Amino acid sequence: MLVLKNKDAQTKAQLQQAGARIAEQAKGGVVSSQKPAYLVLERQFGHPSGLLGALIGVAMAIEHAVLHWTAVNRLSLSTSDRVLEVGFGPGTAIKLASMRAGFVAGIEPSREMVAQAIRRNKSAIRAGRVEILRASAEAIPFPNDSFSVVYEANSFSHWESPERGLAEIFRVLRFGGRLMMVLRKGHSELESEIMRVARGLSRVGFRQIGFEEHGFGHGGVFITARKY
Ligand SMILES: C[S@@+](CC[C@H](N)C(=O)[O-])C[C@H]1O[C@@H](n2cnc3c(N)ncnc32)[C@H](O)[C@@H]1O
Repeated sequence: MLVLKNKDAQTKAQLQQAGARIAEQAKGGVVSSQKPAYLVLERQFGHPSGLLGALIGVAMAIEHAVLHWTAVNRLSLSTSDRVLEVGFGPGTAIKLASMRAGFVAGIEPSREMVAQAIRRNKSAIRAGRVEILRASAEAIPFPNDSFSVVYEANSFSHWESPERGLAEIFRVLRFGGRLMMVLRKGHSELESEIMRVARGLSRVGFRQIGFEEHGFGHGGVFITARKY
């Protein structure tokens, strides 16, 4: 479990140090020469589109496979569960969840990711066990209390309105329903991101908020919470 005490001041100091480092490197031309390619990739991971977005979808399916497998196992799904995945990317976690839960829905704003997820989950969609929709966290196209579990991985930091997205997840979860989010270490400071999520979750009404570090990729954290 992570301990999140007195982190605001520490985070601020770390951000200041990082800012100073970047400014130093920029003087030597290091950052400016890397910036365009980095920005294009960063944007594509957050909002995959076109051919590059489709390729990134293929890469994510491979890179995040074990992470999703671990996270979905931790959810201990059963056939009585109705699961929603938010920002599913290439749809690998939907496939894993649909092997255990009674019904799995997914929402994702990227056309390319929706196409990949539909291909990956074709037979379960035909059988009516999976539904895939093009939509964003900020406007989830399902009625109140539709799901017993919501899963989200690596998409939160790309949402236009995190607060609205968390409120929407709370709305579509049943009373007693569970949320699992996965944050990864990226270029933003992980601990400040965890605190941002924790504050957002508690503000919209979530309880029993817990954190556990994971070591996949560059590392990150599983965040769990319940609607009570
Ligand atoms: C880094 S990818 C992660 C994909 C997948 N969850 C995974 O872990 O492999 C981020 C995903 O978030 C999606 N996304 C961006 N903005 C979103 C929003 N407002 N609501 C839901 N998903 C969003 C993107 O389209 C992209 O597929």
